[in-house]
Amino acid sequence: MAEIITDLKEISNPSAGDDAKKIVVSGIRSTGNLHLGNYYGALSKFLRMQDDFDCRFFIADLHALTTNPDPNQLHASVKNILAEYLAAGLDPDKATLYVQSDVPEIAEMYLLLNMHVGIGELMRTASFKDKARKALGLTGDGEEIEKEIIGNQSSQARVNAGLLTYPTLMAVDILIHKADFVPVGKDQEQHLELTRRFARRFNSFYGVDYFGEPVNFNFGGEAVKVPGLDGSGKMGKSEGNCIYLLDDEKTLRKKVMRAVTDEGPKEPNQKPSQPVENLFTLMELVSEPSTVEHFRNAYADMSIRYGDMKKQLAEDILKVTTPIRERILDIRDNDEYLAKVVKQGAERARAAASETLRDVREIMGIRGIR
Ligand code: ADP
Ligand code: TRP
Repeated sequence: MAEIITDLKEISNPSAGDDAKKIVVSGIRSTGNLHLGNYYGALSKFLRMQDDFDCRFFIADLHALTTNPDPNQLHASVKNILAEYLAAGLDPDKATLYVQSDVPEIAEMYLLLNMHVGIGELMRTASFKDKARKALGLTGDGEEIEKEIIGNQSSQARVNAGLLTYPTLMAVDILIHKADFVPVGKDQEQHLELTRRFARRFNSFYGVDYFGEPVNFNFGGEAVKVPGLDGSGKMGKSEGNCIYLLDDEKTLRKKVMRAVTDEGPKEPNQKPSQPVENLFTLMELVSEPSTVEHFRNAYADMSIRYGDMKKQLAEDILKVTTPIRERILDIRDNDEYLAKVVKQGAERARAAASETLRDVREIMGIRGIR
């Protein structure tokens, strides 16, 4: 299990004159707009960390390429996410904000690190199996996925090598900055585990003590999993059950009012069904504790009306998203500003990345003739 850090001040105490702030790296793929899952799983943590740490947050457009997006949509999505980062409150003067593909050192180090990554371990990664299954149109979750991949002769429904090596690229994103902390949602913990494994392997193969072992960061709590409104366990783009930061008031209210529930409690103090528990989980993220308590009590004594609960939930989500939405609309067409932010970010990110790449080349024996 990854070590979970509980005390912010213990780690980074700038006031105590600790110049060497801990390094934080995280990214979100540019595959559409940000939703509440991204916000509570990742972005809200970025915001809380930017004052105390040396943060480097990026838009993972190379990772987005693994699912072969339409080029115009990919480009639009990079801009959207940048605008959303800024609108949510990330400050380019505090954190380094950049686009992954603006740092070519990452692509080179990805090639180098791949030499120490096993195809088997990549094929066993949960996210790979999931995406490979989707790419091949398989529905069951039998063990035959490896055979299907190797036997597959279709030139359209293929599982591309970028998808397989996704964890290598993610490890490079993190290791190239020698990150200490990587704030991500629960679904990314396996990738982080692989990152640590690759770092250890690199160190031991070359007999160096070069890379550390980055860990997730959850402010002392468990990694968050934001549920869907359709009764499912996870809010996600591919699940089609998202509330977006950019949703207008009408759309958002409609989505919440349509959320799946059940027929209501049948007896006092009963455990809520999954869809209803999902609504409580969302409420715990956006509402005052007293509001949550009110509806929990109403559920326990069977007086709850889901319609009222949903109205309140929509109201409280809007309190979070409306100011962000307004800023997104303000920023997203300001190309000059957006370009300036990522130019400055890329310069800073490249300065760090090129140092690591230089060392890694040296360690691996790519030394040039001199
Ligand atoms: P999606 O699952 O919608 O494609 P991404 O995979 O791009 O989103 O996720 C970007 C970040 O948001 C990651 O840190 C991921 O852990 C987090 N995240 C995404 N969905 C959720 C969710 N439902 N709950 C918590 N965190 C999430
Ligand atoms: N794999 C992450 C996701 O799907 C995105 C990502 C790419 C990332 N590189 C990273 C997250 C490095 C943290 C650090 O959400």
